[in-house]
Amino acid sequence: MITVGVITASDKGSRGEREDLSGQVIKNMVEELGWEVKILEIVPDEQKIIEAKLIEYADEHKVDVIFTTGGTGFSPRDVTPEATLAVVERLTPGIPEAMRLESLKVTPRAMLSRAAAGIRGKTVIINLPGSPKGVKECLTVVLQSLEHGIEILK
Ligand code: MTE
Repeated sequence: MITVGVITASDKGSRGEREDLSGQVIKNMVEELGWEVKILEIVPDEQKIIEAKLIEYADEHKVDVIFTTGGTGFSPRDVTPEATLAVVERLTPGIPEAMRLESLKVTPRAMLSRAAAGIRGKTVIINLPGSPKGVKECLTVVLQSLEHGIEILK
């Protein structure tokens, strides 16, 4: 079975000031495929904290895939791609390329996503945008091919 970790990067969410709808969308969509969400957390938009969580999920929990949501835009507090790039060993540029390609058909603002993706050990790490709508659209694109990638990685 494919195991999943979900990290929501949100200052407001981490303070309990906003409900984590996007993390729940990810959980629901992957559980529909029969995948298991082992951990789901909300963290503030702090690069070092996000990096530490990514490392913990990959190296200790050894999940097959980590989805992050939020923190991929232009705000000075948006640091999720930087945290991701700091911890991955190999880039998987086709994943964010495909997400942006498809998302541009929905909104021209998709070009504002700085989402990154890559591989650390045997874990694939993928940044998704912050809104529940964006998560749903991007995850639909990614889920078409991700299982094959995870099989090859094992
Ligand atoms: N991608 C899809 N599929 N749908 C969307 O609504 N929103 C865009 C973009 N990608 C969007 C999308 C917008 S408006 C922004 S600013 C960036 O994702 C970054 O979002 P984030 O900062 O919440 O991560």
